[in-house]
Order: sequence, then C-alpha cells, then structure tokens
Amino acid sequence: MARTLPWDWYDGTIPANVEVADTAYIETSFSFSRYRSEAEVGVRYEHGAHSYLGTMFDVGPRGRVRIAQHALLHGVRIICDDSVEIGDHAMLSWNVVLMDSYRVPRDPEQRRPLLRRLPETRPRALEPDRNARPVVIGANVWVGFGACVLPGVTIGTGSIVAAQAVVLEDVAPYTIVAGNPARAVRELEAP
Ligand SMILES: CC(C)(COP(=O)(O)OP(=O)(O)OC[C@H]1O[C@@H](n2cnc3c(N)ncnc32)[C@H](O)[C@@H]1OP(=O)(O)O)[C@@H](O)C(=O)NCCC(=O)NCCS
Repeated sequence: MARTLPWDWYDGTIPANVEVADTAYIETSFSFSRYRSEAEVGVRYEHGAHSYLGTMFDVGPRGRVRIAQHALLHGVRIICDDSVEIGDHAMLSWNVVLMDSYRVPRDPEQRRPLLRRLPETRPRALEPDRNARPVVIGANVWVGFGACVLPGVTIGTGSIVAAQAVVLEDVAPYTIVAGNPARAVRELEAP
C-alpha cells in the first residue's frame, strides 16, 4: 500500500511497489513525484540505505532501482527504464545523475513531435526507452558532486568518481576517474 512519511514536508506518498527496509530512511516522498514504475518492486531500499532531499526517481514503467545496504543518496537524479543498482556503502553526492537511457532520439525530426505531444501527456514525461542499458554502481564507490553516469556503465567496487566527471565507460575497481570524458587518474589500493 502507498504510505506517507510522518516527517514529510511534501503531501505525497511512497508508492506501494517501493520496498523499504525498517532501518532505511527516505527524507521525502517528493523523491517519487516522477516515479512511474509498474515493476513488482520498482525501488528497493535495503538495510540502512538512505536518501535525502533532491533525490529524484524518474523511473519508467519497467524500471527497477536497487539501493543496497547503507548506500547514501544525497540529491541524486536517477533516470531508469530498465535497471540501476547501487552497491552497499556507496556514497553519491549532490546533483549526481545516473541514467540508463536518454529517452530522446538524436534526429530532431523525431524530437519535435515528442515535444509537441508533451503538454497533453499524463504524466508529463517522455516515453521510456526500450533500449535502456543497466547502470551498476559497485559497493563502496564514492561519486563526487555533479558527476554523470551514462547508460550501460558499471563502476567497479571501491572506485571514486571525481566531481563533475562524465562517465561514459566502465570503471575498473579501486580506480579514481575524473574529467569529461572520465579517465583514470589514480589507482587505489584494494583492501
Ligand atoms: C576525486 C578526488 C577525491 C580526488 O582527489 P585526489 O586523490 O586528492 O586527487 P588529486 O587532486 O591528486 O588529482 C589527481 C588528478 O586528477 C585531476 N582531478 C582531480 N579531481 C578532478 C576533477 N573533479 N575534475 C577533473 N580533474 C580532476 C587532478 O587535476 C589531477 O590531475 P594531474 O595528475 O594531471 O595533476 C577529488 O578530486 C574530488 O573530485 N573530490 C570531490 C569531492 C566531492 O564531490 N565531495 C562532495 C561531498 S561527498
């Protein structure tokens, strides 16, 4: 059943297909104002996972998001038409964007009708992308503010994505990447 959060400033609900462990925390239901998932479990918050103000789940009808144990999302935008997985103890900073799809054709002739139809579309949202490619953020990853992770990318366990990086390709475990396009700038020691 959809439910409210006792501390919420926004007059919304957590949708019924969002699974939240007793020990997890969601600051506000506003995070779900663009959520459209019809999956059995559209978002799963595991033990101790938490999300704060500015986190937005723009999840299409087939989208599924998993937030593993103790992962922290601080104002992260997730655009998901297939699958986004965030590993345990991952830390994602302000204005990080994770997207498994673009929803926007490259051809302007195809974009124009989408824009014209949008005002009549309910909810006002672009069509989900059937060619979405899953995004995986590994365990213990730290993503700095304003970074963007594009469709199909896996970030290996223990890696760091520098502030404002644009990640187009997979990142090996225990690696710092920075820049646009993101490149490895340093190796980290695996524990
Ligand atoms: C990723 C980060 C932690 C790396 O720090 P570091 O290990 O001390 O790395 P350095 O500063 O020695 O930088 C290593 C190289 O990467 C480059 N670099 C580091 N951060 C960069 C960034 N955000 N964008 C582009 N290049 C960057 C440096 O210029 C340097 O390049 P060089 O070897 O050619 O001189 C840090 O740069 C960063 O982005 N921190 C963001 C913190 C953040 O977002 N906090 C939010 C609260 S959670």
